[in-house]
Amino acid sequence: MKKEKIVVLSGAGMSAESGISTFRDANGLWEQHDIMEVASIEGWRKNPGLVLNFYNQRRQQLKTVQPNVAHHALVELEQKYKVHIVTQNVDDLHERAGSSSIIHLHGELRKVRSSVHENLVYHWEDDLNFGDLCEKGTQLRPHIVWFGEMVPKITEGARLVGECDHLIIIGTSMQVYPAAGLVDYAPGHAPIYYVDPKPSLDTRHYPEVKIIAEKASTGVRKLVDQLLA
Ligand code: APR
Repeated sequence: MKKEKIVVLSGAGMSAESGISTFRDANGLWEQHDIMEVASIEGWRKNPGLVLNFYNQRRQQLKTVQPNVAHHALVELEQKYKVHIVTQNVDDLHERAGSSSIIHLHGELRKVRSSVHENLVYHWEDDLNFGDLCEKGTQLRPHIVWFGEMVPKITEGARLVGECDHLIIIGTSMQVYPAAGLVDYAPGHAPIYYVDPKPSLDTRHYPEVKIIAEKASTGVRKLVDQLLA
């Protein structure tokens, strides 16, 4: 019997209980930094050293954190469903938990790429510095989608959401497009769940969304138990 498809759209709240700061919560990453200085293509051009340092710090932190209960619960769903993770997160916690189908809409901390030849992508564990060059001799940059850049994987994400039987949105403020717009691709028959302690979907526009106003660790655990029952 064919497995039903679940698409998970996860954001920074998915990794909050693993100890990784979200962006827009109180004392989140954007309270400590100016987004446009460290996460935009203009910022990279203006002060690449500041940008390299920002991502070096976040890459180093990855070595100190673990997937949490919510990451592991999503893997359990694969017993009964075909699960596609479409994440805005650049950490590798979904991978480390064992999810088998993951799309990173905004790039990956543990990858770098040529700042000229964007198809030259390399796995990278440690600090990235000036003088770290790709095989063609150009400076390497974080493999992150910065503000002002295209989101190449949004098309694949929209296709997956358009074919899903259930959509689960976890830990995202739904403020950054085009990722936030993926909810509009869900087929009419697909239930939509939104796990977030401070949900920010306007329920007037999305009356059909089932809001679970809880942290990921409890909200996702409960939802997965329901879906596996
Ligand atoms: N469990 C679940 N959700 C949580 C938790 C938690 N323990 N703690 C916080 N949240 C929720 C917040 O309520 C908020 O809705 O996580 C969301 C975090 O929102 P943002 O910080 O805006 O993160 P995100 O939505 O992933 O940002 C999208 O913006 O800065 C860019 O590229 C960056 O991918 C990022 C994008």
